[in-house]
Amino acid sequence: MLRLDDASLYASCDPSGMLHTALGLSRQVRDAWEIGRAARLPALSRSPAHVVVAGMGGSAIGGDLLAAALGTRLPVPLAVVRDSRLPRYVGPESVVIATSYSGETEETLAATAEAQRAGATVLAITSGGRLAEMAARGGGGVVRIPAGFAPRAALGYLMVPALAALERWGLVDSCAEDVEEAARVAEEVASESGPAVPTARNPAKRLAQELPGRIPAVYAGSPELEAAARRWKCQFNENSKTLAAWNAFPELTHNETVGWGAPPEVRAVVSVIVLLGGDEPERALRRIRVTTELAFRHAAGTHEVRGRGRRVLSRLLSLVQLGDLVSIYLACLRGIDPTPVEAIETVKRRMRDEA
Ligand code: F6R
Repeated sequence: MLRLDDASLYASCDPSGMLHTALGLSRQVRDAWEIGRAARLPALSRSPAHVVVAGMGGSAIGGDLLAAALGTRLPVPLAVVRDSRLPRYVGPESVVIATSYSGETEETLAATAEAQRAGATVLAITSGGRLAEMAARGGGGVVRIPAGFAPRAALGYLMVPALAALERWGLVDSCAEDVEEAARVAEEVASESGPAVPTARNPAKRLAQELPGRIPAVYAGSPELEAAARRWKCQFNENSKTLAAWNAFPELTHNETVGWGAPPEVRAVVSVIVLLGGDEPERALRRIRVTTELAFRHAAGTHEVRGRGRRVLSRLLSLVQLGDLVSIYLACLRGIDPTPVEAIETVKRRMRDEA
């Protein structure tokens, strides 16, 4: 029997149930939509000049996915800031959505304080901590999301209430159908790639089997899918505890392709994973094919995966669902518990102790 098909593997390698949580993305998305629809939002006296999502790591990626999913539907710019400092343009005409699962992340707390000093409208999305207190004290809104998850495993809770808020503020037309389709396709991916489905017919297990000992380079087939590629890379880092890279077409054909001139022993450990939306124009596909032929032929392997659904949010979240599962299966193949992220905690602790 193949290792990933042995049901007893998961109890030993994944005692905190990261796999179970990841499989519940669709439920989380639907629940998070209701939370966002019901939350008390700060009132906007006029349409904001822009929206800034401030957050770090697993709390920030929701902002990237949101920006990609809304694309040109949003009438104002949306910037994601992963830093303690906010751009100088932030002021009374800004909406700042501060996302921190723990509510204790130094950079996000500092950015929120700066937003408040600048007179911005602040909405915090958090399970609690100082961020919730700070936002409430400053007259901002707080969307409380359920506690008890690893931040990166609470992606639906961190992202979807922001979408609901943008809709309720009148910044974007109705998103209910986007959310429902995204939840449905995530559910499909979860059922096709769940632990009970044997490797032979399980896309996530099959891909994970190609990756032990490799560095995955995750390439989005278009800029629209960049956030999904970044999520895959971060999930390989945090769940599988391995190095990984991400980039996107067509930009990578203007730089990274040259890097494939690296020494053969370096190229030989890199596995390319191309994320496709399924609706790429012929010319974009041609560029991917030419690049695969010229550059990726030196890689340990090249794999293509396709997103699902008609809407961008669906394609993104179906890819996220698949990538999350691949990263967890890879952890289990390596005999590693996907949940602990000691290296992140240690830096946070040391920085706190030295403050
Ligand atoms: C941990 C994770 C990290 C955290 C980051 C910020 O699962 O994904 O990237 O998200 O360290 O912490 P929070 O999300 O609590 O603000």
